[in-house]
Amino acid sequence: MAAKPRITVLGTGYLGATHAICMAVLGYEVLGIDTDEAKIAALADGRVPFYEPGLPEMLSKALETGRLRFGTDIAEAAEFGDVHFVCVGTPQMKDSPAADMTYVDAVVTDLAKHLTRRALVVGKSTVPVGTAARLTQLLQSTAPAGDQVELAWNPEFLREGFAVEDTMRPDRLVFGVASDWALEQLQAAFAPLLEAEVPVVVTDLPTAELVKVSANSFLATKISFINAMAEVCETTGADVQQLAAALSFDPRIGGRFLRPGLGFGGGCLPKDIRAFIHRTEELGVGQAVSFLREVDAINQRRRQRTVDLIRSQAGGSLAGVTICALGAAFKPDSDDIRDAPALDVARLLQAEGAIVRVYDPQAMENARKAYPDLHYATGVAEAAEGAQVVALLTEWDQFRDIDPEWLGEIVAVRAIVDGRHALDPVAWRAASWDYRALGRAVDPAA
Ligand code: UDX
Repeated sequence: MAAKPRITVLGTGYLGATHAICMAVLGYEVLGIDTDEAKIAALADGRVPFYEPGLPEMLSKALETGRLRFGTDIAEAAEFGDVHFVCVGTPQMKDSPAADMTYVDAVVTDLAKHLTRRALVVGKSTVPVGTAARLTQLLQSTAPAGDQVELAWNPEFLREGFAVEDTMRPDRLVFGVASDWALEQLQAAFAPLLEAEVPVVVTDLPTAELVKVSANSFLATKISFINAMAEVCETTGADVQQLAAALSFDPRIGGRFLRPGLGFGGGCLPKDIRAFIHRTEELGVGQAVSFLREVDAINQRRRQRTVDLIRSQAGGSLAGVTICALGAAFKPDSDDIRDAPALDVARLLQAEGAIVRVYDPQAMENARKAYPDLHYATGVAEAAEGAQVVALLTEWDQFRDIDPEWLGEIVAVRAIVDGRHALDPVAWRAASWDYRALGRAVDPAA
């Protein structure tokens, strides 16, 4: 195996910060680079600039080892590193479903200009298939070291809320390489995980790029499948929760990612499937994944259907109705509000004249910045004061644990829409709540 490489991580957002911190804890000398000076200053000072359970403790641990540094100078990164991980974002373009490659291209070009010796550049960002081939060209034609610089692809599957666990104990590692030398470098860069016998798939560059988008497409499809079944349940009086439970016992199907409700959001699944559809169309194979359009459409419909259900709970009109909206983040244990179904619902309710009071345990600051027109409460009690309908939109444990009797004393009307199937309908109905959830029988006990 190659000698222990010195590592740089380019882009210290969610993915890059976690990767840099974990690599230092695993024993590597790491330099994290970002153009955002405030972010770099925070990290260097031991502060994680976003909410992720367990990561602040890992950052302190990494900084204590003296192996982790942060900076803004890409020339220093080129000088320092043997293996450079590209972790910058590929957000959806403003006017198209395509992924915006500006940041990836810029960081690879800037780094390449300074690469004067043999090095491996490893892509981790989620990109359109074919990017690695293009970046190889770009790297080798720009770098003073020419084809001494190689490119590999190592997609990242980490979930928000579980970032540390997913990085330290991944389900699998995927190494997309174009040479034995590149493979040896990757093996050296992941030696502690390989010793722990993490499964490894060694493959070519386009397959490695595709693994990530196909994994996310599959997960999105699974969620939209159960939500499509929920729609059928809604018109037949069947119960999607029991349906999902029955399906989950078949090990070929499995129960994970089969939770019906408000659907998926966040910075990955929605934009990744749209960018994938777009890319396959560019390549002339759009028909192969045309079902993903339906996956997206089913998912978007959940938001309007949840609003419809809340309106019906409010007696047919939302004008002037006070709604307690529990949740803003796209999922629990995260302060991320990108494409958050909860906030979409809150805004749709407000657009119909409702007075919406939002409370989320972690995402308030982000939500307030993005949507200053909504009303924000300091806690569940304030959000619920005099509410005519309660809508549970993100399934934080704090909301699961709410005592229906306690909440019942605060609201004006005991009506609740459980957008995440997080509550026990029996307990809530026993406390005289009119409990409703999409895809569930109105009252199976009645
Ligand atoms: C996802 C992938 O899981 C991860 O592998 C990839 O690297 C990045 O994208 P993340 O966006 O953090 O991770 O969230 P995830 O836990 O996958 O949830 C995505 C969305 O699906 C959330 O909005 C969640 O509420 C929703 N979801 C998930 C469901 O509606 N039902 C489910 O059964 C599971």
